Amino acid sequence: MAILVTGGLGYIGSHTAVELMRAGKEIVVLDNLYNCKKSSYSRIKALTGRDFPFYECDIRDRKGLEEIFAKEKIDCVIHFAGLKAVGESVQKPLEYFDNNVNGTLVLLDVMKRCGCKKIVFSSSATVYGVENKSPLTEDMKVGGVTNPYGRTKYMIECILQDLYKSDNEWSICLLRYFNPIGAHKSGTMGEDPNGLPNNLMPYITQVAIGKLDHLNVYGNDYDTPDGTGVRDYIHVVDLALGHVKAVEKAADESGLFIYNLGTGKGYSVLDVVNAFEKASGVKIKYEICPRRAGDLDTCYSDPSKARRELGWQAERGIVEMCEDSWRWQSNNPNGYPD
Ligand code: NAD
Ligand code: UD1
Repeated sequence: MAILVTGGLGYIGSHTAVELMRAGKEIVVLDNLYNCKKSSYSRIKALTGRDFPFYECDIRDRKGLEEIFAKEKIDCVIHFAGLKAVGESVQKPLEYFDNNVNGTLVLLDVMKRCGCKKIVFSSSATVYGVENKSPLTEDMKVGGVTNPYGRTKYMIECILQDLYKSDNEWSICLLRYFNPIGAHKSGTMGEDPNGLPNNLMPYITQVAIGKLDHLNVYGNDYDTPDGTGVRDYIHVVDLALGHVKAVEKAADESGLFIYNLGTGKGYSVLDVVNAFEKASGVKIKYEICPRRAGDLDTCYSDPSKARRELGWQAERGIVEMCEDSWRWQSNNPNGYPD
């Protein structure tokens, strides 16, 4: 039996594909190539020395999904496929609801019809909204989100909860990621954003490589030790390993499970800049700018539930995250080849 990885050629999906195969699992990957390059497929195969089926398919394509389920023996889905740029979601809400929410509905319906009732879903710390205070725990009230991207994650969580209520045979794992950064140790896989990066680490690495002149630090007047925003950065390989544990949980028992995947430690923007400079030996020029709309001062997890129930915890620290991000960026200044 195999695990279907939707969005499996993207940043987190590709690292998870590697760790799933390293753990001896069979995988099938689906991606519409909207936000990734096909060469990510070759890199995963080269790294693991294993072949696996890849389908260029959109999760909204019911017929395409049905063909994959008919051809492959799939008993679990890890669902990464989705659009993820917060600013873009404000400009294009319909595309985000269609791709993320409608796409998930099509996927779930096909799964149900094929008798596949195990799913691990990529949710986000964004569902905790602006009211909760860090450290964030899974039992806090969610939903106070301020942008369409975040709302798609919250809506999908609600859909999955209702689905479980309707049929207790489902096994559903909602994984709330904090801030994934870093790259595979080999330097052959990493984050490859299209255009100007929205997130901190890819922006820093592009300044370091000379593609961008300087980092804009969005505000130094937050209520944090140095005034810059504090986040819970997690190495993408630790995050990937969390998915291996989650699919094992889903295979073992039915239920609706929710886990934070974070380190539980908060680092400020300037902490990350300093750690990156130390790891890379490259000085990062930055300017303090006004706050970015919608940003919080502090956001970090309480990861103890995942440790208790999944036996998972993040092992890689901030310096390793920076070293690995830098190795990827410096070996691949233009990201994945076309
Ligand atoms: P990514 O864009 O690198 O990967 C997503 C992949 O899904 C891409 O390869 C894209 O081509 C594919 N895709 C998008 N829409 C599709 C569709 N309709 N059909 C088929 N494939 C489709 O993003 P990522 O950083 O790897 O994120 C993976 C998931 O984790 C997303 O759902 C994202 O919202 C969620 N997440 C990411 C972060 C983060 O910081 N990266 C944080 C929290 C949650
Ligand atoms: C952002 C999204 C969040 C999403 C997450 C992962 C917003 C408001 N939130 O979270 O919904 O789940 O990405 O994709 O966009 N920073 C700078 N300069 C930059 C970039 C970032 O100073 O060029 C700062 C930010 O103000 C923040 C920190 O760095 O304090 C991290 O930012 P980022 O990487 O964008 O992640 P989040 O804002 O946590």
